[in-house]
Amino acid sequence: MEELVRFGVSISAQLLEQFDRLISRKGYVNRSEAIRDLIRKHLVEHEWEQGDKETLGTLTLVYNHHVRDLPDRLEDLQHDHYHRIISTMHVHVDEQNCLEVMVLRGRPAEIRAVSDSILNVKGVKHGQLVMTSKGQGLD
Ligand code: NI
Repeated sequence: MEELVRFGVSISAQLLEQFDRLISRKGYVNRSEAIRDLIRKHLVEHEWEQGDKETLGTLTLVYNHHVRDLPDRLEDLQHDHYHRIISTMHVHVDEQNCLEVMVLRGRPAEIRAVSDSILNVKGVKHGQLVMTSKGQGLD
């Protein structure tokens, strides 16, 4: 097992109280694991944005499929980028709205570009790219 290191953190009582309430709601049993997860999240984001290695992302978007040409436009874009968009899940949320979750693979800049081209389509109401990684070195 890897060596564990303890370190001290100075923090305002109010901020710590808020943090403790949040992590308790999220089900953490102690601060250490919550802080380790925050550090990992930060490292993944940094690796993701800086790196040139192939990585992964998920893009979630919501749109009204009655908007003229919008479903066709989104489908065309997915075919244009079929190398990068490796899977799409479509949910018919209600009479008007669709939700799609796409899994993207490629270099960060490529994933960001494909994601932006989809999110910039007129009529997409909401969307967000979540960056992830294969997780080497994060155990
Ligand atoms: Ni639908």
